[in-house]
Amino acid sequence: MEKWTRIAHQPCLPMGKDGRLVTACEEHIRLSRQAATEGMVLLKNECGMLPLKKGCRVALFGKAQIDYVRGGGGSGEVTTSYTRNIYEGMKLKEEEGKLQVFDELSRFYEEDVKEQYAQGKENGKTVEPAVPAGLLQAARRYTDIAVITICRFSGEDWDRKGIPGDGDFYLSPQEQEMVDAVTAAFPKVAVVLDVGGMVDSSWFKENEKIQSVLLAWQAGIEGGLAIADILCADANPSGKLVDTFAGSFDDYPSSAGFNDSDDYVDYTEDIYVGYRYFETIPGAAEKVNYPFGYGLSYTSFAIRNCCGRLEKAEDGTQIVVEASVTNVGKLAGKEVVQLYYSAPQGRLGKPARALGAFAKTRCLQPGETQQVTLRLAADSMASYDDTGKIAKSAYVMEAGEYRFYLGNSVRNTEKVSFVYKEEADRVVLVLKERVAPRQLAKRMLADGSFEELPVQAECKAERFPGFVEGNPPHKGHWEGDTTANERGADAPEKKIMLMDVVNGDASMEEFLAQLTNGQLIDLLCGQPNTGVANTFGMGNLPEYGVPNLMTADGPAGVRIRPGLGVCTTAWPCATLLACTWNPDLVYEIGAAGAREMKENNLGIWLTPAMNIHRSPLCGRNFEYYSEDPLIAGKMAAAKVNGIQSEHIGASIKHFACNNKETNRKASDSRVSERALREIYLKGFEIAVKEAQPWTLMTCYNMINGRYASEREDLLAGILREEWGFKGMVTTDWWNKAYQYKEIKAGNDLKMGSGDPDEVLEAWKEGKVTRKEIETCAARILETIMKLD
Ligand code: BGC
Repeated sequence: MEKWTRIAHQPCLPMGKDGRLVTACEEHIRLSRQAATEGMVLLKNECGMLPLKKGCRVALFGKAQIDYVRGGGGSGEVTTSYTRNIYEGMKLKEEEGKLQVFDELSRFYEEDVKEQYAQGKENGKTVEPAVPAGLLQAARRYTDIAVITICRFSGEDWDRKGIPGDGDFYLSPQEQEMVDAVTAAFPKVAVVLDVGGMVDSSWFKENEKIQSVLLAWQAGIEGGLAIADILCADANPSGKLVDTFAGSFDDYPSSAGFNDSDDYVDYTEDIYVGYRYFETIPGAAEKVNYPFGYGLSYTSFAIRNCCGRLEKAEDGTQIVVEASVTNVGKLAGKEVVQLYYSAPQGRLGKPARALGAFAKTRCLQPGETQQVTLRLAADSMASYDDTGKIAKSAYVMEAGEYRFYLGNSVRNTEKVSFVYKEEADRVVLVLKERVAPRQLAKRMLADGSFEELPVQAECKAERFPGFVEGNPPHKGHWEGDTTANERGADAPEKKIMLMDVVNGDASMEEFLAQLTNGQLIDLLCGQPNTGVANTFGMGNLPEYGVPNLMTADGPAGVRIRPGLGVCTTAWPCATLLACTWNPDLVYEIGAAGAREMKENNLGIWLTPAMNIHRSPLCGRNFEYYSEDPLIAGKMAAAKVNGIQSEHIGASIKHFACNNKETNRKASDSRVSERALREIYLKGFEIAVKEAQPWTLMTCYNMINGRYASEREDLLAGILREEWGFKGMVTTDWWNKAYQYKEIKAGNDLKMGSGDPDEVLEAWKEGKVTRKEIETCAARILETIMKLD
């Protein structure tokens, strides 16, 4: 097939064997279901209640069995042809002769949800109906096993709630009533949580009447089947938490200030996010219900013969820890081995534990052993000294002993006898002050006290006033403006097509020089949708052979325009995928999704989203991976590598600190340089260095008083100069920043439409140069040139 045929050709050309479509094909849907089972986390399992015994009878409670939420809203939404709910999953097991379901009860929920939908309630936003007493008794006569289902929905542009009784982080009063009624009537109760983020776990943790809890997340198109697979032991759970489940919402360090203001968020807990807080700060440990890294299996494992050593490699010293993992239980299963380290407290203060490396075993048969090797670069344990306690704006390894802990959660570890020592403070890398806070007055230290930070006069970014969301402007909107028609100074006489640059017959500089200012500026703006796309495109200069390359969301699957008869695969939500601790699986999902992109003539897949789970309330946590940057970075890198193995571009997003949705286009994330570098930027750094994503999307919000998309210190400095990012940077869709400032900062493309008039005006006023515009255009065209 000739280059760009797919991009230019509508409708799609099937990529499967014998002319079949790969989009939402059986193989992809099977992969989605398999991944779903691998990321579900078994939180509690007493008296061996799960798996359900063959031939048992089950009563399913809760409207979530019907109103099943397979993923969240916004960019994490997908157009599919169907969704399998929990009831369907259990009925399938019934057909397979594994159990029996009390249909009368499920039909009650079916009717109720149908009615609520008819009244306008949306999926995941229905109200828990009261179970009629007679039906409850009938269910109890039928069986002594109850499975309670609870679901949650969240999405873009709004945050969740964290007030007791809210029906969000906490149970609603109606849900609580249902739980009380069921636990009073049934001796055996399991709970299935169909949720996209951290929720209250105190109502079941110490409740003896609830023996088992499966954190099933929002698990994609066949999530209901995957849940049934786990409940019946057709799959053995091997998911591990990537977030700490604390006793209450207030126990999270970010909770106190989360709703202080719509205009800013102070990241006062600094680097003590998630388990770094709970494992370090005095008194916080007992607030944890389920620790980071935790998850049960139907079998058990022994991690033994652990030993560590140093290895000198060309790219620096590595810590290598080896161990053997044996399945000492009765069912086949997988285990996740986690290596944590603690650095000396020194003058900077350190978290008591930080995840350094991890490995998931293959599926081990009972009695089988696997040898695992974990590696981490010694220098990756360095801390960023932003105030100059040892060396200003530098990564430093403080003098003392670095210890290692190996196990299957942050709490369940054994100390490795090997110790790494630094005799004296050692500066690892000297950088520059970048994206420094101006308004963050204090930050937490390792003993729970606060350190004061210098506060400077507020200098908030100006919001671009003239911006309207909508379709990109039509070409030719500058007719009459002669400056728009001026070409570059070295314009060649003969017309050069982009394919000439591809073939090496002309340089990018020559190509750009022949374009008028108007054409050049247009290249920096989003372009109209074609085909199935609904998030716009880039390029689109047909007279010079530049195709209009379409984008599509998102983390949960290829999100295209609904109503066109094309349906795609909905993958489990990103948090579930992170809970697999299996980057190879995430790579496969990336590659499969990229094939769906390609088949539908789309070029840039707007995923992975990888912001840190700073607070349980962020409405988009389900689209993001973890509270830990190593997990987030490794998962994102795997996804990007999978996507780009199919020559489709990935877009890691939202760079950075988009950890709250309320007023997301103007909220200012006020955060220290250290927390930025060690927590909020770290995952992006890993993804850039390990996968070189073709594109990166900046966030809507400001960081320390300025829009991220306008910050040259972030984009030209940290991203490109320090990390070596080679790709193109796009804004998030219809942000509130000035495009000319973005161009100067190295944010190349403005989506969904851009504002060409503003850029031309700025050029006329000398605020931005043609050279700067050309630099951005070149990066956009180079991205297009990477496509097949
Ligand atoms: C979201 C992005 C998404 C874009 C295009 C924005 O509202 O924040 O994540 O990719 O829309 O749909």
